[in-house]
Amino acid sequence: MNTIGTELRLTLFGTSHGPCVGAVLDGIPPGMAIDLERIQNEVDLRKPAAGIGTPRQEEDRVEVLSGILEGRSTGSPITLMVVNRNVDSSKYEQFKRVPRPGHADLVARSKYAECTDLRGGGQFSGRMTVALVAAGTLAKMLLEERDIRVAAFVRQIGSVRDTGERGLAEALFSRSNPVRAASPELVERMMEEVLKAGKEGDSVGGVVECIADGLPMGLGEPFFDTVEGEMAKMMFAVPGVKGIEFGAGFAAASMRGSQHNDPFVLVDGKVRTAKNDAGGILGGITNGMPVVFRVAIKPTASIARGQRSLDLQSGRETELKIEGRHDPCIAPRAVPVVEAAAALVLADLGMRGGSID
Ligand SMILES: Cc1cc2nc3c(=O)[nH]c(=O)nc-3n(C[C@H](O)[C@H](O)[C@H](O)COP(=O)(O)O)c2cc1C
Repeated sequence: MNTIGTELRLTLFGTSHGPCVGAVLDGIPPGMAIDLERIQNEVDLRKPAAGIGTPRQEEDRVEVLSGILEGRSTGSPITLMVVNRNVDSSKYEQFKRVPRPGHADLVARSKYAECTDLRGGGQFSGRMTVALVAAGTLAKMLLEERDIRVAAFVRQIGSVRDTGERGLAEALFSRSNPVRAASPELVERMMEEVLKAGKEGDSVGGVVECIADGLPMGLGEPFFDTVEGEMAKMMFAVPGVKGIEFGAGFAAASMRGSQHNDPFVLVDGKVRTAKNDAGGILGGITNGMPVVFRVAIKPTASIARGQRSLDLQSGRETELKIEGRHDPCIAPRAVPVVEAAAALVLADLGMRGGSID
């Protein structure tokens, strides 16, 4: 449905080409200091970068409708809204008849019939994530009050993979460049990969890695509401996400136990592990090490070059050429989205487990 979370509940509303997109976040305790400029900054990080993003330019000004008074949370649901201004729905009418391969047009039409709002991708649009970022920043603030930091970066774009060891500092560095690379050496190569795909009328996929540092041991509710389970559910709500792995992830399948097990060590009187192939989670519960996960993001479905599709009216195969405004690579724009979404999950689990009251 459109609501997620147990103690910290998020509801998203709006559509890509409707009047607005927005979020209602219920559960933020009263009295939390809220820096509205910070929310705006995080939302701005999601904007398309010049040259490598969609030409759709939105102001994305976040408006507060409820739950915040004089810079503090009131304890009632916080409603944040962003008005859609730069809307051009003319290119979307055809997708009702000829659905875009790789996009949600066909399934949306079959599930919601003719009344569905497919303009700009409707509720399936990446635009919904503006609201997710705005609300997730509140969760970040809640976590930061407890010295928990969440940051993400682009680990891979197409064939360009960052093979370095990365921590929170590198993830934060990624905010300084348009492809959201963790190292300055990768920026140009990643940019080229996106530009090349765009020039060829195509798109390219990527991997976003997220690190949550400073978490206490004990977040996560077995059996079903594990950190991995809750995180995966949230991440698969982000449009374009096709996979998730924690720590060593799929590479664990080809490892020996002696290699994969993280030895326990004492650091400043606290039990830690000497490395972090578990991604900070054992038995579905945080173990005090940073939670590290990666999401695979598919290449953007809407590409300029002709593709095979079906004309649903005639039943004939046809060539579809898409003229709308699209991102040749979603991964850089997904970075603040993944951060915000992760913060919401961790804050919710913290509240459920009692480490955040
Ligand atoms: C920030 C962001 C921007 C996106 N931009 C586009 C876009 O310009 N064109 C497009 O076809 N898909 C874009 N997407 C992805 C689609 O919304 C998504 O692929 C589609 O809804 C189908 O869902 P699925 O890929 O999860 O199956 C974007 C996603 C995100 C998170």
